[in-house]
Formats: sequence, C-alpha cells, structure tokens
Amino acid sequence: MDFSRLKQAVPSSPAFILDRQQVEASLQALAHLRRQSGCRVLYSIKSLPLSAVLQWVEPCVDGFSVSSLFEARLVDEITSRGGSLHITTPGLRVQEIAEISTRCSHISFNSLTQAQRLLPEVEIRCSPGLRINPKLSFADDARYDPCRRHSKLGAALQDVAVAPLLRHIDGLHFHSTFASRSFQPLLATVQHLQEVLGKRLHGLRWLNLGGGYLFDQMTDSAAPFVEMVMRLRESFALTVYIEPGNAVVGRAGYLLATVIDCFESDGKTVAVLDVSVNHHPEVFEYQRKPSLQEESPDGAHAAILAGSTCLAGDLFGEYRFDAPLQIGQRLVFQHVGAYSLVKAQRFNGYNLPDVYALDADRFELLQQYSYRQYQEQWLPMASE
Ligand SMILES: Cc1ncc(COP(=O)(O)O)c(C=O)c1O
Repeated sequence: MDFSRLKQAVPSSPAFILDRQQVEASLQALAHLRRQSGCRVLYSIKSLPLSAVLQWVEPCVDGFSVSSLFEARLVDEITSRGGSLHITTPGLRVQEIAEISTRCSHISFNSLTQAQRLLPEVEIRCSPGLRINPKLSFADDARYDPCRRHSKLGAALQDVAVAPLLRHIDGLHFHSTFASRSFQPLLATVQHLQEVLGKRLHGLRWLNLGGGYLFDQMTDSAAPFVEMVMRLRESFALTVYIEPGNAVVGRAGYLLATVIDCFESDGKTVAVLDVSVNHHPEVFEYQRKPSLQEESPDGAHAAILAGSTCLAGDLFGEYRFDAPLQIGQRLVFQHVGAYSLVKAQRFNGYNLPDVYALDADRFELLQQYSYRQYQEQWLPMASE
C-alpha cells in the first residue's frame, strides 16, 4: 500500500478504505487450502457485509455464511445465489424461520431446544444441522470465547452425543476461537469431536468448522489441516466447510483520520481526531490499540490519539512519532477491515466515514452518509 498516495488521493476524511488487491491476496491463501484439502470456503459476511466485497469474493468461494434474516436477504440480493448459504445464530425467531430456511441451504441450530422447536418448520430444501460447543477454550479473553463457562453458543458436545435428535440432522457446526494464527486449536477440536462422537459421524453429511482463524497469516504448516480435512471427507464422507470473515477482509481495511485539535493535558499531548472509537468499536470493547501506519516505536514525540466524542474513554491509545503531530495531518489505522465499519455508529451525531474501494490504483467512492440518514434514524416514521 502506498500510504502517501492514499493520504493525498482520498478526497474526504474520515474515510474507510478497502483494498481489493489485499482481499484477493487473502482469498488466494484460502483457495490454496481449498485446492489442497477439498474443504469448501464460505465468506462470513458479519465481518464486513459491504456489497462490493460480496461481489469481489463470490467467484472465489463456495458460498456465504450469515447470522440473521437481514444478512441472508442481503446475500440473496447482491450475489447470484449460486453457492451455499449457511446460518447459525442464537437469535432465530419462529416468525422468520420459514423465510430463513427458504433462503439458506444449511441451518445450524444453536441449541437442542431451538432445534426441537424449529426443526419441524424448516423448509425441505434446507439442510438442518446443530451448532455444538466443544467446551475446549482457546481464546484468552472470555468476552470472545465461545467455549467460556455457561456459554450461550452451541449445544454441549457431550449432550449432543446422546441426543436422539442427532438422527434427524445432517450436519454439525462449531466455531470456537478468535483470530488464531495456528491450526492447532482446530486440529485439537476435531480430534475431540471424533473421540466423543466416534461412529456417529458416519450418519452426518457435513461439518462446518466455523471461522476464527487468520488463514492468510498462519504461522504453522497447513499439512496437518489438509490431512485432517481429507480424513473427514474420506472416512466419513463429510463435506467440510470453513467460514472465515476476518481472514478475508481484516488486512484489507484502512481508516483514514485527520488531526483536528492538539493540546497538552497533564503533561501529555492529546491529538483529537475526526474519527471516534465508535467507528471501530472493538478498540473500546476489547481495549485494543489499533495499528497506526505512522507510528514510530522509538520516535521522540508521544501523543494520545483521541476520538471526537464526549466519552472520556474514547481513545485509540498512546503512539510515538518522529515529529510532533500537526493539526490537519492525516493518519491511517491499518488492518481494520473486519468488525469495524459493520459495528460503527453515530454517537454524538458524528457521521460514519465515507467508504472507498481501492481498485487497480483508483479510489472509488462507494458510500457517503449524510445528515438525511442520521435524521431518518431519529425522526418518527412519516405518517401516510
Ligand atoms: C459462527 C461464526 N462463524 C464465523 C465467524 C467469523 O469469524 P472470523 O471473522 O474471526 O473468521 C464468526 C465470528 O464471530 C462466528 O461467530
């Protein structure tokens, strides 16, 4: 990425920029795994449901995975509907199940009770499955550990193993970690699954291994993963799916911001930006410091980068720079493609960033929000 060009060429700030080349590079890594192992790849749109991304990704994946009726409708509208469409969510509503199971090819119920209540309502063309909770924790923070104690995500594997319902479903789904750069959690989880379910795996048609892996940045060899998927396919005749989100878009997203004020506070420099943590809420949710392109770890000048809202904790963190920050200077947060724009909101009435695609050296404006959309959210519905 040519950052000085990005800062000069993008007309507006704040801006969210998605680099098509980087999305395609990440898809290459997934295509390689798919070719070697025969697994099927779905793009989990919850990480970034931008229509341009769905269109770029569609030719390179076997389908999409969604978490709600709205996401399913969006995939239907934007893509050619050729591939699979998987859904799993604790939030299935009885009044939506008919439409969901018409639009989706696979549904993984989140609990045994959800399955018992809603299985009879599922349309015949939709393949029913169950999300299991393997109860093997790999995430170091309970806030994003699906296998935490008293988890709401998936039916306990031990309970599923003895549930009569197992005879009435076609597949299993699990998603058990977050941003892992190692295949080890996945290998350990599948091994555990095989130990608990044993021959009962023969009665199933598919297994969805979820997301949570940065398949484009793995630090260990893919060979054991490839071998594991081939074994599942050959020994149990299972169709094996993975459904990454972050691995597809995470590294492709940039948030361009401008310094709009700069002052001293109790002996430290505070630089106020024209963005806020509400444009990248995981900064606040998980107290993460996002990577900044301009940061120079040994730089002589430190500054706290602060968001524009009234919240005292609306801070990106303290960064070091080679030169003091200037009002009007542009800065770029990097690797913010996943779970940023999709969670962004307009607290304090600060607008969402303009959205650009960087495609073949050209910045194309995809979305520009206006006061009208803010107003629509808060004014009463117009009476007919
Ligand atoms: C069920 C399920 N599948 C897939 C994903 C995508 O995960 P990631 O973006 O970490 O690959 C998530 C993320 O929360 C998920 O809950």
